[in-house]
Amino acid sequence: MGEVVALPLPEPAPEARPVLVLDFGGQYSQLIARRVREARVFSELVSHRITADEVRRRNPLAVILSGGPASVYALGAPQMDPAIFELGIPTLGICYGMQLMARDLGGSVESTGSSEYGKAELAAFESELFRDLPSEQTVWMSHGDSVTAAPAGAQVVACSTSTPIAAFEDPERKLYGVQFHPEVVHTPHGQELLKNFLYNVAGAPSSWTPAAVIEEQVELIRAQVGKEQVICGLSGGVDSAVAALLVHKAVCDQLTCVFVDHGLLRANEAEQVVETFGGHFHVPLVHVDARERFLTRLIGVTDPEEKRKIIGEEFIRVFEEEARKLGDVRFLVQGTLYSDVIESGGAGDSTGAGVAATIKSHHNVGGLPADMQMELVEPLRMLFKDEVRRVGAELGLPERMVWRQPFPGPGLAIRIIGDVTVERLAILRAADAILQEEIRRADLYRDLWQSFAVLPAIKSVGVQGDERTYAYPIVIRAVTSEDAMTADWARLPYDVLETISNRIINEVPGVNRVALDLSSKPPATIEWE
Ligand code: XMP
Repeated sequence: MGEVVALPLPEPAPEARPVLVLDFGGQYSQLIARRVREARVFSELVSHRITADEVRRRNPLAVILSGGPASVYALGAPQMDPAIFELGIPTLGICYGMQLMARDLGGSVESTGSSEYGKAELAAFESELFRDLPSEQTVWMSHGDSVTAAPAGAQVVACSTSTPIAAFEDPERKLYGVQFHPEVVHTPHGQELLKNFLYNVAGAPSSWTPAAVIEEQVELIRAQVGKEQVICGLSGGVDSAVAALLVHKAVCDQLTCVFVDHGLLRANEAEQVVETFGGHFHVPLVHVDARERFLTRLIGVTDPEEKRKIIGEEFIRVFEEEARKLGDVRFLVQGTLYSDVIESGGAGDSTGAGVAATIKSHHNVGGLPADMQMELVEPLRMLFKDEVRRVGAELGLPERMVWRQPFPGPGLAIRIIGDVTVERLAILRAADAILQEEIRRADLYRDLWQSFAVLPAIKSVGVQGDERTYAYPIVIRAVTSEDAMTADWARLPYDVLETISNRIINEVPGVNRVALDLSSKPPATIEWE
């Protein structure tokens, strides 16, 4: 049995030259990369340890140094290769990055006792960074040390009450520094300042659009897979859908998608996938109806971890069987995102190779076989989730799929507490469909990270008509979140809750009560199992 391996990707086309964001461990490093991309300039987050040679090899349009820990003089404070400043590449230092520039380029940094945290009023002078921006503006500061002398040859171009050197620039050497954080929303003109740097200083074209991403990825996929066969597991989620469409656009009939219906999907989900891919996009699609198989294995299983394990294992088995039927398939498509690459520490790696070999254990389709002898195709590995959605929309993926809330691989099985049976699945599916419908009707769907119904393993007494009932409750779970690491319970309007509750109790046989989950994560999790 071989390993899943990742090949180094071909060199990017010259027009795809990146802006490199050197990460010094600041809390906003990723945000800087995103802001650059929002200006339609491709950016990559790389380790601060990157060498000048490597930077030269990557041929970036510009370099941005992120914020970081409190003092450039602290023991163990992250450093950088000062030769990068000599490359003639436009460089912008932000906060810690600015202080490093000052220290390494003949200026000075001191702990002046005038630390600034929060909003500050800035006075800006005529300069390249502040071109067409107000001379007085609010900015977001977060620093203990301050630059007390700008680098030799640089002009001071902004100050605040507590920070006399709040920005400097040396247009000749293309070196720029700002003490505040232009990337956060609390600096209202921050994005304009970044655009001044990107467009006017670095001459970056505003051309990194979803269409350009598609064009570039199609080229890369063609170069990688040649004439070989490719397989992709579809989960119904946006990542695997967009990855599949990109590969389909690149190599058409060489791609076969496998959609395993494990019987734990929500109402109409399987039909939607089959209709969208097979019907609309004409992607060769193997639809495996494995409902019975999964449900049989789940009989009598009530432990959450065991449910997950069984579903994951069974999924791999079914997928492998289908792959084998297809014959000689050399490539496996994975919907790995840039956030996964960054999290696994791969962003600083010069080729990206190595990190790609880690298959997500929390993957949407339940984890794909780790011992399949296939190479990975990962067309989304440079994209953030919102960028994947924009690419999906550009490729014509229906809006319903583009904006689909995350759905766990083990599906409804981990939202049914206790036994997973056909009857209990039907109850949950019907209740969940009503909840989804009303959330969409109230125009709340996109504001929520997730909204769904849960079926507990208890019954309670009710009265319907003149009849006593003894039936299940349904729990409404709706959360807001940035990344699912933490989440807050959503304050749904009472009238929406009332409609959901009335409809579920009246329309779903077997339910006589609706409750609302008021727990945040932590200490609760988003899912119930
Ligand atoms: P929890 O319940 O841990 O969930 O707060 C965090 C996020 O992960 C999703 N989730 C999963 N996704 N396979 C997945 O693809 C899984 O096994 C799985 N378990 C939880 C969950 O829906 C939420 O968005």
